[in-house]
Amino acid sequence: MIAAQDKLFDLFRDALARGTFVKLTVSRPRDPAADLKNVFLRPVQLKAGLRVAFTYRHGTRDIFKNLPAEAALTEVANLLSESFLCANLFTTERTAELTIREDDSARIAVRKPAHGEAPSLEHDRTKPRSILPTEPWLRELNVTLPDGRVREAMADKFRQINQFVEVLRPLLAEAFAQGAAAPLAAEENSDDLGETARLKRRARRQTEAERAVTVLIQRPLTVVDMGCGKGYLTFAVSQLLEQMHFAGSRVVGIEARAELVAECNRVVAACGFDRLHFQAGSIASTALDAADALIALHACDTATDDALARGIGAGARLLVVSPCCHKELRPQLIPPPVLASSLRHGILLEREAEFVTDALRAALLEWAGYDTKVFEFISTEHTAKNLMIAAVKRRQRGSREELALRVRQLAGFYGVREQHLASLLSFDLAEAKPAVA
Ligand SMILES: C[S@@+](CC[C@H](N)C(=O)[O-])C[C@H]1O[C@@H](n2cnc3c(N)ncnc32)[C@H](O)[C@@H]1O
Repeated sequence: MIAAQDKLFDLFRDALARGTFVKLTVSRPRDPAADLKNVFLRPVQLKAGLRVAFTYRHGTRDIFKNLPAEAALTEVANLLSESFLCANLFTTERTAELTIREDDSARIAVRKPAHGEAPSLEHDRTKPRSILPTEPWLRELNVTLPDGRVREAMADKFRQINQFVEVLRPLLAEAFAQGAAAPLAAEENSDDLGETARLKRRARRQTEAERAVTVLIQRPLTVVDMGCGKGYLTFAVSQLLEQMHFAGSRVVGIEARAELVAECNRVVAACGFDRLHFQAGSIASTALDAADALIALHACDTATDDALARGIGAGARLLVVSPCCHKELRPQLIPPPVLASSLRHGILLEREAEFVTDALRAALLEWAGYDTKVFEFISTEHTAKNLMIAAVKRRQRGSREELALRVRQLAGFYGVREQHLASLLSFDLAEAKPAVA
């Protein structure tokens, strides 16, 4: 096998060096019952330089990682010696098929190229850019016409759906990616080992951390959309999870209005979604076993707080809310003297109340163990309700006392004694000493 495998590696290395590499597939598991079915490689140009993008295709999920050229060679050597019996290399100059038999003898067949051009090196070129207007669920929800054009009156909604997807995509990656970026060991050129032996020796020395460069593990997620209304964003989330290869994920939309729930479930059935479901119920009390991510867009007033508290209680790693009306704090605000004359203007008081509400929510989320960002997710030209609070659970919890103090100082500055999220989290805004949750 050594000579045949060495030949494959020579061709692979040469193709990488000369920019003629198209793709490589490692297939035919040595153990037919193995969960890892095959591995697909393609070149990708990252800021750090040329990398080989690996897609490990397991039974129910895909795992991705990008490796520099030499590490990629090592990884393929490893895969062939331990797990697979076949490799097909495609370059713009030739194709090569390596076949390993049970007794580890091997042969390689080199033929004419099947591809005339090197592939695009754009990162993640399979990533669909958006939700297309031709999606059947958009038609069923009356966002688009039967010919696939967006209805004029729904243009803002369509834009909002896509904008939301583009905001959620990196948040999902941030919350659910697992990675490590330890440097790879220096190349071992110290002796005259054959290529295969050298790569194998190097592979043995690599630790798991060294090999896990830019690893993205897509496991099935449960995502809950609280106050999902007509389900526009719920369907979009379901499609986004599929685009991002979170295979087997489940999406649940919860909505108070039973007629909207029935209509959404009709669209689910009509469009063949099998892991998306809508349920009638209230944000505060609907049973929730588990949630990896929770979203709540434009849920009215303190329903946003209910949703955040439910997500925290369910241990969700990602929380994404876009608050709607802010009625709770306005009557409570006691402006500090320097702001008093400004806040006698109703509109300024209203905006200040919105600011204080969302600032308190963000501070409480930080206290509850989440890294939190507040930003505009769509231009005000399309909707005034464009503020988003996104919170990703910290992997390590730090001291909460300072964070609790920040919440209390903020509330105290505006004379706020009660806020719904604080109450749901049993956080006493007025307590002299920081609360311990
Ligand atoms: C403005 S709509 C937003 C719908 C959807 N999230 C979106 O952004 O497209 C708010 C929805 O939340 C629902 N809702 C408000 N408070 C709720 C609660 N406490 N429990 C369940 N649903 C609620 C309303 O019935 C309404 O359909």
